[in-house]
Amino acid sequence: MFITFEGGEGSGKSTHARLLSERLSAVLTHEPGGTAVGKLIREALLNRESELEAMSEIFLFAADRVEHMEKVILPALHAKKIVISDRFLDSTIAYQLAGRGLPEDLVRYVNWVSCRGTIPDLTFYLDVPVKEGLLRAQKRGAADRFEAEILAFHERVRDKYLEIARDNPERVKVIESVGSIDEVQARIRKLI
Ligand code: TYD
Repeated sequence: MFITFEGGEGSGKSTHARLLSERLSAVLTHEPGGTAVGKLIREALLNRESELEAMSEIFLFAADRVEHMEKVILPALHAKKIVISDRFLDSTIAYQLAGRGLPEDLVRYVNWVSCRGTIPDLTFYLDVPVKEGLLRAQKRGAADRFEAEILAFHERVRDKYLEIARDNPERVKVIESVGSIDEVQARIRKLI
């Protein structure tokens, strides 16, 4: 079973991915940065001094994902483990297609080659109003290259996530990430 958590900034997905992984004794991993080289790629992607072109950005996410697939996700799935990833393919659709405005055929092709058809069995999209999420993220410290984006960027990301959920109702479950951590986790466990 391959489960992913998706969401905008400050949506609480990392907390809920961790809590569910403890409950299910699952392998918990994340993107970008789930491997040794992935950590270096992550630094390049999130550092505000990077000034990356959108095209370079998507290839760095793709490189991170290839390493992640080969070294972490596929070996664990082959060993019959439950794998939970904090972000995966849908992040690229929401951020690089809707957020950055890269061409759809390019984004879908890059996604397809980077995971070679391994699609999550179940995805939790944690939904939170953009302004509230950004406020939560701000409290964690200095903004990274994505958190520093304008409000309209984050609105496009959220709208795209909601569209992905509408288009894939079997796979993608929308969780309202408001209320206490226990309340939100209970919504997730009910669906599990
Ligand atoms: P991270 O600190 O993991 O953010 P969060 O705590 O919000 O998950 O940073 C990852 C950032 O990378 C996040 O802003 C979303 C972005 N991202 C993409 O733009 N495309 C992708 O394919 C992935 C995996 C992440």
